[in-house]
Amino acid sequence: MFPTDRPRRLRTTPALRRLVSETEVRPRNLVLPVFVAEGLDAPKPISSMPGVVQHTRETLRKAAAEAAAAGLGGIMLFGVPSTHDATGSGAVDPDGILNVGLREVRAEVGDALPVMADTCLDEFTDHGHCGVLAPDGSVDNDATLEVYADMAVAQADAGAHVVAPSGMMDGQVGRIRAALDAAGHVDTAILAYSAKYASAFYGPFREAVDSQLRGDRRTYQQDPANAREALRETTLDLAEGADMVMVKPAMAYLDVLRSVAELSDVPVAAYQVSGEYAMISAAAERGWIDLERTVLETVTGIRRAGADIILTYWATELATRLDR
Ligand code: PBG
Repeated sequence: MFPTDRPRRLRTTPALRRLVSETEVRPRNLVLPVFVAEGLDAPKPISSMPGVVQHTRETLRKAAAEAAAAGLGGIMLFGVPSTHDATGSGAVDPDGILNVGLREVRAEVGDALPVMADTCLDEFTDHGHCGVLAPDGSVDNDATLEVYADMAVAQADAGAHVVAPSGMMDGQVGRIRAALDAAGHVDTAILAYSAKYASAFYGPFREAVDSQLRGDRRTYQQDPANAREALRETTLDLAEGADMVMVKPAMAYLDVLRSVAELSDVPVAAYQVSGEYAMISAAAERGWIDLERTVLETVTGIRRAGADIILTYWATELATRLDR
């Protein structure tokens, strides 16, 4: 052993460890995903995501105010409508629950907290797919783009600073950019779910949004086996004008996140999804792991892998334990 072969030297005191710590998570790096449901008079717990609820309009406003006070980087809204139809028309309707929620959250937080909208049809369609269907039952890519264009404009009209197309349709970023620009929303940003995998980790989310889906999303979401394809998807989204790109889920895809971060010339987000939340919550409930340490460790790992921005259902709680 040479005298230099002693990396433990830099671990001897907390202050030394702090001096050489490479990765920092700040509240501004965190985005809180929230669900707002139509027609509730009290928040409704999501059993597979202990601590997460479907919000009423009232409690949504409160959650947004708390997120702003905690110094978060943003809030991402998902809508849970009480009715569904074949084309997901509630997504485009200015009085649809998601657009109402966006308007109220924006009124609450102004420009202090970036307000983001999930731009996808699955919560609004009666078949639960992320797009509209062709007569043969397949998801019709180009017909879906037209609905996404209207949906994104409705979200920007409602006050969203950022729209986040998550449906993995080809050309969605370019089509939405053109629609936003044509409607005068040149400053509304697009956070593209560029590499979104067909994942078992979305299980609890399906309960969270009362998903109507039977079957799966494998004709549009990516095969978990594929990493190169994620780079192709990202390259296309960047060429179409994505302002930020995202990898989802996070923990099983840290290699993909790392390569997307190396490729991207825009900020990179990663989504610690519902199943990641459920898995950690369940183990912690049983006393098998420590919740606070596990949350910070996973979020730090996601950040270390290359995420500038992390969507996590723990965003507000975690932020209160972090330096600003
Ligand atoms: C689709 C969408 C999903 C999630 C975010 N946007 C579900 C899916 O693709 O089936 C999952 C989020 C999570 O699991 O936390 N609009």
